[in-house]
Amino acid sequence: MSQAAVIDGKAFAAGLRGRVAVAAAAFEAKAGRKAGLAVVLVGEDPASQVYVRNKGKQTIEAGMASFEHKLPADTAQADLIALVERLNADPAVDGILVQLPLPGHLDEQAVVERISPNKDVDGLTPTSTGRLALGLPGLVPCTPLGCLMLLKDRLGDLSGLDAVVIGRSILVGKPMAQLLLAESCTVTIAHSRTKNLPDVVRRADIVVAAVGRPEMVKADWLKPGATVIDVGINRVPAAEAGKTRLIGDVDYAGASAVAGAITPVPGGVGPMTIAVLLRNTLVAAHRNAGVALEGDAL
Ligand code: GUN
Repeated sequence: MSQAAVIDGKAFAAGLRGRVAVAAAAFEAKAGRKAGLAVVLVGEDPASQVYVRNKGKQTIEAGMASFEHKLPADTAQADLIALVERLNADPAVDGILVQLPLPGHLDEQAVVERISPNKDVDGLTPTSTGRLALGLPGLVPCTPLGCLMLLKDRLGDLSGLDAVVIGRSILVGKPMAQLLLAESCTVTIAHSRTKNLPDVVRRADIVVAAVGRPEMVKADWLKPGATVIDVGINRVPAAEAGKTRLIGDVDYAGASAVAGAITPVPGGVGPMTIAVLLRNTLVAAHRNAGVALEGDAL
C-alpha cells in the first residue's frame, strides 16, 4: 500500500510568514507606522508562556510591533477588562489576543466580548463568529483558517467533498465546520456523543481531528485516500524515562498507510496558528488604517 503524502505545515507556515513580512513592510511605508499585535497572558501556565513567547518573537520577525501584557494569576476581571479597553483605544494596536484558557475565576466569554471586533485577530467575538456564520468577510480563528489553507493547497477546490470535523470547540471545531461549509463541503460535526464515530469518519474525504485525545482516530476509521488534518497536540511520556513527546489525535503511523495525505505532529497544523495570527493582524491593520491590502497572496 502506498504511503500518504505528508502535508508540511511547517514549510507552508514559513512561506506565509514570509509573505506577511513583505506585506508588513509595505504597510509600514504606506501607513507611517508598524502593524501592532497585543497579547495578554494571565497567570503562569507553562504551555501558554511558550505560545506567548513564540508569538512575540515571530511578530517582531515579521516586522510588526509586539505588545506583551503579562498579568498575575489573581488578576480581577475588572482589571483585565480595563486593559482590553485600553488596547481597544490604542491606535498602535491592530490586533488583541487574550491567551486562553484564563484562570478559573475569570469569565472568558465576558472578556473576549469586550475586544473590539476591528481588533479581534482571534476571531472569537460574537461579531466575528456571527459574520463567519453569515458568510460575511471578517476575522476568522487562526487554527481552523490555517487548516483550511493547508486543505486548499493540497486539494484545490473542496466543493462537494464530504468533511468530518471531530470536535465542536469554539476555537477550532465550530469555525472549522463553518469554513468547510463556505467551501461547499458536506460537513458533519462529530463529538463525544456521536454514535458509531468510526463509521461517520469512514465517509469522509476530509477528516479534521480536534479532540485532544492521543491517537484516537485509527487507520481503519479512514476512507482510503482521505485527507487527514490532525489538530491534536498531546504531550505524552516518551520511551526515555522523564522525557515527553508530542502526538496528535490520529494514529499517524497507521493512518499514513490508508490516507492520501496527512499532517504530522509536530510540524503540521501547529506552526500554522501563529502564521495565521500574523496574517490576521496585518489584515486588521490595513482595515484600521484605511490602507488597501494589495494582492490576495495572504
Ligand atoms: N490558546 C490556545 N490556542 C489559542 C488561540 O488560538 N487563541 C487564544 N486566544 N488562546 C489560545
